Amino acid sequence: MGLSKEDVIKNYDREGQDYDRIRYGRSSGGAFFSEVELSKTLRMMKSGSVLHIGTATGRVSAHLIAKGFDYVGLELSKVMANITNSRINGHGSIICGDAEHLPFKPNTFDNVVSVRSFHFLPHPENFLREAHKILKPTGRIIVSFEKKIHGREIFRKLMRIPASKVERIHYTNSHVASMLRDYGFDILHKGNVTKLPLLVYWNTDRDRLLRKVHNRMPSILGTVGVVVGQTSHCGLSNPFNSSVGCVRDHTTGYSEGYDLLDSVRRILLKHPTFIRVMFPLFNSYRRRWNMASLTESSAMDAILTGVSGAKEFEEKGMADAETLKEFVSPNSTVLDLGCGIGRVDKYLSTYCQRICAVDVSDRMLYLARRRLAGFKNIEFYRNNGHDLSEFGDGTFDFVFALLVFHHLEKNHAKTYLHEIFRVLSNGGTVYAQFPNKPSEQFIKAQAEKRIYDVARTRWYTEEEVSTLLHQLGFIAVATSLQGSQIVGICKRVLV
Ligand SMILES: C[S@@+](CC[C@H](N)C(=O)[O-])C[C@H]1O[C@@H](n2cnc3c(N)ncnc32)[C@H](O)[C@@H]1O
Repeated sequence: MGLSKEDVIKNYDREGQDYDRIRYGRSSGGAFFSEVELSKTLRMMKSGSVLHIGTATGRVSAHLIAKGFDYVGLELSKVMANITNSRINGHGSIICGDAEHLPFKPNTFDNVVSVRSFHFLPHPENFLREAHKILKPTGRIIVSFEKKIHGREIFRKLMRIPASKVERIHYTNSHVASMLRDYGFDILHKGNVTKLPLLVYWNTDRDRLLRKVHNRMPSILGTVGVVVGQTSHCGLSNPFNSSVGCVRDHTTGYSEGYDLLDSVRRILLKHPTFIRVMFPLFNSYRRRWNMASLTESSAMDAILTGVSGAKEFEEKGMADAETLKEFVSPNSTVLDLGCGIGRVDKYLSTYCQRICAVDVSDRMLYLARRRLAGFKNIEFYRNNGHDLSEFGDGTFDFVFALLVFHHLEKNHAKTYLHEIFRVLSNGGTVYAQFPNKPSEQFIKAQAEKRIYDVARTRWYTEEEVSTLLHQLGFIAVATSLQGSQIVGICKRVLV
């Protein structure tokens, strides 16, 4: 059975006024859930206007109107739309319509909010595309949904809980974040709304204990997720989360394991004692990246923040190799600076004679060697994190550095570029990425949070990159914006 809008309409037309009683009115735990959901889901909204998708009986609508938002609600079920309309009593407007076909002009709303209705959409990509269009620049999208939890179905059967009347897709937080990113949103937040399975709230009659412990609990058992995205100033995505190419993953090989790992990491990284004690221990590039690559999956996540799994990681490696292959020939000798686990080398190696893959981290190189054991034309080198002294002058026809310079102090990046100039042959080309400088406030906010981290992002402007490359003696310098990255491509010619 697939997702069906008719089933959604039938179900909600039938539930009508009973909707709230079945859920939030069923126990004091249900009422507490409603408070948690409203505060956690809606706290990252911007002031101004909001399009609210899936109003049901108007619980969220009334809350948003009371908070002063300029409110428009859109609801698929006519019965629900009518109930909400009478509840809001003229303070905003309600439209009966479909989230996948939004009848609004571009640049209309400051926020689009969908509270636990995203999982009913047969074509969520249509909704995301439309939402992006109707949002103003730096407008926010807030999507909450029921999460994919291993063992959900077994648990349901064991507890003899009746199956849901309406089919839905359960998502992981990373999956939804990845979908939002594919449709041009920067991810501002992904996490759990609830801290416990929904049934625990529904079935709690005395909420006093629940309220007492709730704030102190971690959220890894939560079954409702939320992702907040923002349309960027100038159509760029968030440099924290991107690589060169962007391949949409239509199949869903997403694993819940990522969310669990993510949750543990988040909890630790929020803990001031952990940060104070641990980060000074990882204050060199080598230690920092060794720590990030304890396992292959944590290495993948550190290399492409928020990547949804191995499949997407490989696809992005392949896409980046496709971009780079035009700079090499079957005779080329290539240097990959900051190779990580050889994401791109794996696919680029078929187009050139030899790749020297260099990295400061032993762990990254260990994983890379293990992954690419059968690739005879890739050699791995551990360097000192500052220069390319392993290689003689003029050794390489092509040098590339993807997602590396933004993790380095600017003077170290400059030294590396100087070294690249030295090891390039006459007429050789360098292809390097630098993260494009977004707004000052954004940089400041990120820097404040990550000041302790040697690998935090250092931002560049296009002019800065271009001047730097010229100063170092490169010629035919071309810089361009590709997604969130400034790509500098230039040549070395002996004078
Ligand atoms: C975000 S990952 C990118 C990996 C790879 N370029 C890719 O796109 O898949 C950054 C890599 O740069 C390496 N790195 C960080 N600082 C370095 C330095 N000072 N010298 C050499 N490599 C460094 C890290 O160990 C890590 O493998």
